[in-house]
Amino acid sequence: MKKLLMIGAMLLAPVFAVAAGGSNVHLDHIKVDATNQQSLQRGMQLYVNYCLGCHSAQYQRYERAATDLQIPVDLVVEHLIHSDQKAGEQMTNAMDSEQAKAWFGAPPPDLTNEVNLRGADWVYTYLRSFYVDDSRPYGVNNVVFPSVGMPNVLAEVQGIQRKACAQVPKVDASGDIVIDTLTGQPMTVQNCDMLTVDAGTGTMDQAEFDQAAYDLTNFLAYMSKPYLQQSKSLGIKVILFLLLMTVVFYFLYKEYWRDIH
Ligand code: HEC
Repeated sequence: MKKLLMIGAMLLAPVFAVAAGGSNVHLDHIKVDATNQQSLQRGMQLYVNYCLGCHSAQYQRYERAATDLQIPVDLVVEHLIHSDQKAGEQMTNAMDSEQAKAWFGAPPPDLTNEVNLRGADWVYTYLRSFYVDDSRPYGVNNVVFPSVGMPNVLAEVQGIQRKACAQVPKVDASGDIVIDTLTGQPMTVQNCDMLTVDAGTGTMDQAEFDQAAYDLTNFLAYMSKPYLQQSKSLGIKVILFLLLMTVVFYFLYKEYWRDIH
């Protein structure tokens, strides 16, 4: 038994190593919701308007998204396809990857699978973590993706975000606020990684922008697992069917054994 446990632990070790890998930047947690059609619809609209020009979603067809997100196909054709593509085609773009590499330092990757790759929390935090950095070619950097090649394409809606210093409560290794034993007050430390938006520079306020980043991430999460919604509703049907069959088999069992007792 001990041996089995050891082998199990050893098999799991790489999984934890991968999970712990990467930077130790704090990620804001969200719960994506494949059943929130309105959020997904807004997310798709944001995606085609702000992202698709650079990032293809080559495993996603417009028509399939229209069906899953309950958007009439003619509305998709009219408002969400900005090229001469057909509804049945994949969401691709005309960006030449060699040229893009020259412009941005790295070609914009396809985002169909992005949430499977990085996780929804990462993508959500990334979209809200661009800040002004004059040392970078496009004048912006990103907290969760240092030296990123992507310009802050959402700056017009979010506004100009900068790093600023502020006094914040000091926390210990377990995340609890440290109290000054002399004064009984929480201790504070200077943190110069706080992000603040210059007032009046964006068309959305903070809550609206967070919602937009959520909707976008939700849409990316849908593309990463387009079958999720269906498998959930199928799962419920299967369980209901099994419950029903349990009742049927119970009576059948009664019937078979009736004459024997
Ligand atoms: C002007 C072109 C451009 C636009 C528009 C753009 N991006 Fe990017 N994006 C890039 C480039 C270039 C990279 C690669 C950055 C790098 O590797 O340094 C990138 C990287 C990313 C990444 C990280 C990919 C990874 O490495 O895991 C995400 C996520 C992302 N973009 C999301 C978006 C979303 C969402 C939008 C729409 C709101 C968007 N991008 C719009 C150019 C763009």
